Amino acid sequence: MPRTTPPLLACLFAAALSSCTFQGGGIAPFNPAPVAPAEPDLDVPYVPTPRPVVEAMLDLAELGPSDTLIDLGSGDGRIVVAAARRGARALGVDIDPVRVSEGYAAAQLAGVQTRATFRRQDIFDTPIREANVVTAYLLPAINLRLRPRLLTELRPGTRVVTHAFTMGDWQPDAHRVIGGRNIYLWIVPAVVGGDWTLTDGGATMAMALDQRFQQVTGTLAGSGRTMVLRDATLRGANFSFTVDMPAGPRTYRGLVEGDSIVPDPAGGPAGWRARRAS
Ligand SMILES: C[S@@+](CC[C@H](N)C(=O)[O-])C[C@H]1O[C@@H](n2cnc3c(N)ncnc32)[C@H](O)[C@@H]1O
Repeated sequence: MPRTTPPLLACLFAAALSSCTFQGGGIAPFNPAPVAPAEPDLDVPYVPTPRPVVEAMLDLAELGPSDTLIDLGSGDGRIVVAAARRGARALGVDIDPVRVSEGYAAAQLAGVQTRATFRRQDIFDTPIREANVVTAYLLPAINLRLRPRLLTELRPGTRVVTHAFTMGDWQPDAHRVIGGRNIYLWIVPAVVGGDWTLTDGGATMAMALDQRFQQVTGTLAGSGRTMVLRDATLRGANFSFTVDMPAGPRTYRGLVEGDSIVPDPAGGPAGWRARRAS
């Protein structure tokens, strides 16, 4: 499908074009190249993130040496290089070969070329499954186009950090303002919506969950009684909720593992389990 060029991009390209034909105030002779190099098909113009904002984005992601980051639309590579400086493995993807070359040069200069790599590729064709941190400084409409893939291809718990732009009605898990710039964090939620059978001690109950991104509501029914889940919190694969049982409130802290929810060893209590009802 052909892409339309946004007006801002058209202006940038027009400005770049005019600088080719006017030199030193005079008009240079028109020498058309036999084959004009193809302009990269940009969805977003190149505008670098200020370096203090880069560091704040990595802080918000709590990026460390065990992480694997992808920067979608990596520009001059500054986010990738900063991530590699923190010991993470990092990949920058940009459709513009000039930007990719700049990224490689920056990694070389910083001495992090073993951990920082770059690829010339369209972000919409880029496999993202390997990353557990994704960064992006794109545009609202581009974030929305990427959103279904972020939610389905990334593992629960993966951190997505954007500069400036949000993800539509997927509310961020955190938001900071750094030097007048907005940065946002989303934690990819596990899929919990649907019907579950929860066993707790000798009791078997039906749990029905409604999910909208990380917002979860639901009920737990058993022994002729239906109780509403309260304080349901889903952060990656960590899912906790409280139910007001006849004997008093009971808080379940679980880990979502595909079609099972098991007690979180770090949180307790033990002795219960939920399985997806077929
Ligand atoms: C606003 S810049 C962000 C650069 C860098 N991530 C930063 O924050 O400093 C957006 C980048 O996306 C790249 N880009 C635009 N459309 C793209 C596409 N479809 N696939 C890959 N990269 C793209 C541009 O070349 C540009 O370098």
